Amino acid sequence: MTLDFDETPDRRGTASLKWEKYAGRDIIPLWVADMDFPSPEPVCLALQERIAHGVMGYTLPPASLAAAVQDYLAEHFAWDIEPGWLVWLPGLVTGLNVACRAVGTPGDEVITATPVYPPFLTAPPYADRKLVQIPLRLDQGHWSWDFNALEAAAGPRTRLLMLCNPHNPVGRVFSRAELERLVDWSVRHDAIICADEIHCDLVLDENRSHIPTAALSTAARDRTITLMAPSKTFNIPGLGCSFAVIPSDELRRRFRRAMAGIVPSVNLLGFTAAEAAYRRGWEWHCRMIDVLRANRDRVQDAIDAMPGLTSWPVEATYLTWIDTRPSGIAHPAAFFEKAGVGLSDGGEFGAPGFVRLNFACAPALLKKALARMAAALGVNDD
Ligand SMILES: Cc1ncc(COP(=O)(O)O)c(C=O)c1O
Repeated sequence: MTLDFDETPDRRGTASLKWEKYAGRDIIPLWVADMDFPSPEPVCLALQERIAHGVMGYTLPPASLAAAVQDYLAEHFAWDIEPGWLVWLPGLVTGLNVACRAVGTPGDEVITATPVYPPFLTAPPYADRKLVQIPLRLDQGHWSWDFNALEAAAGPRTRLLMLCNPHNPVGRVFSRAELERLVDWSVRHDAIICADEIHCDLVLDENRSHIPTAALSTAARDRTITLMAPSKTFNIPGLGCSFAVIPSDELRRRFRRAMAGIVPSVNLLGFTAAEAAYRRGWEWHCRMIDVLRANRDRVQDAIDAMPGLTSWPVEATYLTWIDTRPSGIAHPAAFFEKAGVGLSDGGEFGAPGFVRLNFACAPALLKKALARMAAALGVNDD
């Protein structure tokens, strides 16, 4: 089995969203959250085998895939689910938008904490819901929910809390105590929690582990829509296969109702890849996490040496959130693009003055990008 993460395939000319953005320009793309690593070999083999069959008809979610997900959740998170709780989705962003439509009625309020993955900010207004943003707290170098602000934000029309855990972009893995406070809040205010846990298999900090919110208690289970996917974990986002776990029959019915006639089923290759990944992708995953840890450290060291830039320990994800405001650079994403590095603009996450760096690439490419950033800031990179 090939487990080489140093030599990544050339993605130029493959219509890659990440690479196409800078086609023909010498800009290293470290923006959208996909990895430059090839997917696990068992996934590629399963896809080849399925394609060799030749018939690509309408496809049901395979019962064997539901069993694979059930086993995965039990083994990795000690979370026992029933296959009937699963709702398959062609994308996790679809799930965020469906959740906003399924909970409450137009004009109701949806709370989330910023900065956050941009679709959290657009899903509520797309569903005619009012978005209420509360800033995450940065206390002594540690990002967390601001529970006082959360309490103050709750009103008679609050219906939904959108939680990103692990958090994109600040990289936190929220603790049991933090999650319990969020659940306690949701019980007191009779709100539903939509927990986007797409980064749950990308915990890099050895002292942290992911806890699915819904697994905390019966109260949590009954009011949580959990959104997960193999897409980030095994680098198969182009195959569009995600799922919601909704234990409450009533909530699941409302969710399915909001999808009806609009959300298509997952394509058969997405199902095939997901099952192979959850069953046989973990050896690859283990090695990939080591590579991400080394890249994370490389980024942290480099940013620490850049004047006017601050980053925080990345507990999970392959994304580093960087505050450039002390540097005085007016438009940091444009500044670094000019220096040959394509980062995500924090403004899209509700935080102008910040940038997000995706370090899921070959170490040599990452080193080159960091050297370009350092040079642009006048740092001698010996
Ligand atoms: C927190 C989060 N949710 C959802 C997604 C995207 O999910 P999908 O591509 O399945 O719509 C991403 C991708 O970066 C993400 O970071």
